[in-house]
Amino acid sequence: MNEPFSKENSEEPASDFDKALRPPDFDEFVGQVKVKERLMLMVEAANQRGDALDHVLLSGPPGLGKTTLAHILAKAFGSQIHCTSGPQIEKAGDLAGILTNLSHGDFLFIDEIHRLHPAIEEYLYPAMEDFQLDIIIDQGPNARSVSLSLPPFTLIGATTRPGMLTAPLRSRFGMTNRLDYYTAEDLVKIINRSASLIKIETDPGGAHEIASRSRGTPRITNNLLRWVRDYAQVRADNIITQKVADTALGMLDIDADGLDEMDKRILEAVIYKFGGGPVGVGSLAVAVGEDASTIEDVYEPYLILQGYLQRTPRGRTASPLAYQKIGLEAPTNQPPQQGDLL
Ligand SMILES: Nc1ncnc2c1ncn2[C@@H]1O[C@H](COP(=O)(O)OP(=O)(O)O)[C@@H](O)[C@H]1O
Ligand SMILES: [Mg+2]
Repeated sequence: MNEPFSKENSEEPASDFDKALRPPDFDEFVGQVKVKERLMLMVEAANQRGDALDHVLLSGPPGLGKTTLAHILAKAFGSQIHCTSGPQIEKAGDLAGILTNLSHGDFLFIDEIHRLHPAIEEYLYPAMEDFQLDIIIDQGPNARSVSLSLPPFTLIGATTRPGMLTAPLRSRFGMTNRLDYYTAEDLVKIINRSASLIKIETDPGGAHEIASRSRGTPRITNNLLRWVRDYAQVRADNIITQKVADTALGMLDIDADGLDEMDKRILEAVIYKFGGGPVGVGSLAVAVGEDASTIEDVYEPYLILQGYLQRTPRGRTASPLAYQKIGLEAPTNQPPQQGDLL
């Protein structure tokens, strides 16, 4: 795929750039006001009581700040954080190794927690609930169950697909927080903060242009800012104006609404190859040459939010807006849309 910046699934390690721009505490964490307020209150209460913080689940599309919040929480609590991810824990022994390494009050961050193996999940339940790990050691006639006590710890789970978590696992989190796409206003704040960190001047028009083309996603905002900075440095006196941002983002084939080549390929496939839908994500994935889970986690949520696609029980359908986007007139026999006068 020739995409200049991948939208990155959260299981990919953060780049140095990502880390450098990561807000270190709640004060610098922009937006998500309700989530922030709840988490801050939870930290304060647990701190006052001297208890370990309850387990927290963070969900939402990639790049919205789940990993960032996990680090902020641990820091606010003055705790050590250990990071791993669902696919990395292959055997019960891996989990046992991680858990027995924790000290009193430590945080364990499990990214992509919906991808934990079901058998491993079962070991996690008593660990979360009673700080107890019951493992089977040895095999055959020598097999025996050993019960280990763990120090109280806090599990922070992150997931792009909360619906894929089993009910028992979900119910063991004291609090679930869903991160939403950011407003352009919040993204402008993030751009201003990042711009001063990477030492590039942006005027309000420039910041707004980048914000409105970032798909509501801070990670994309920062990646686009980095590209526009390069452009400004080489071609535009080191100042990011609206025009500079517009030209630079045009070079990446990111349109005025923030849609890129893959987004358009998806809309075109639904319309041209599947007659506007409904089409299942599997067929769509084959048609555009992208992984089905990437379509579901990364592309589709934003296309749905913006009203280009609709998810129905029979599959995805294109809305009139999608037809407009690719320069076609919407067919008149479309089922009624939300907002239509009936
Ligand atoms: N609320 C925020 N305020 C400022 N920057 C943010 C915020 N949320 C995310 N970012 C930026 O976006 C990057 C990606 O966030 P990250 O926490 O890795 O997302 P996720 O884990 O949800 O995929 C971070 O490195 C940080 O620079
Ligand atoms: Mg992450």
